[in-house]
Amino acid sequence: MRIAIAADHGGYELKELIKKMIVEELGMEVEDFGCQGLESVDYPDYALPVAEKVAAGEFDRGILICGTGIGMSIAANKVKGIRAALVHDLYSAKVTREHNDSNVLTMGGRIIGPEIAREITKIWLTSEFTGGRHSRRLDKIAAMEEKYCGE
Ligand code: RB5
Repeated sequence: MRIAIAADHGGYELKELIKKMIVEELGMEVEDFGCQGLESVDYPDYALPVAEKVAAGEFDRGILICGTGIGMSIAANKVKGIRAALVHDLYSAKVTREHNDSNVLTMGGRIIGPEIAREITKIWLTSEFTGGRHSRRLDKIAAMEEKYCGE
């Protein structure tokens, strides 16, 4: 699985840890789209490339981390085809894959600790969409995108 990851300054430290864990413990491929330090940056600048590349199929999934995870989630969900889920607990990590087929995970580096973030990421990356009635619901969201998001 190929994963695109990015963070702003509020998520930088957690990004570094999650990136290492994905490669070393899960053996998956990760490409880092920044940022590269604690200097203040604007989270939409980092959400956009990850969301675009996931939507284009260049990466299987995206992970975006800011201080709360909220800004990254709002920004990523503006890109057509992105279903970004803000997750801070293990149950949601599993169910957002099974029910929402989320393709971007967002977390808040100032909200959760590193161990829970690692577990959330592992569960999210290894859980599968269950389809069935959930596909019908995702089709309705896609229709909303068509109606309101244009190209
Ligand atoms: C940056 O200070 C902070 O606003 C950002 O990391 C994020 O929490 C936005 O949602």
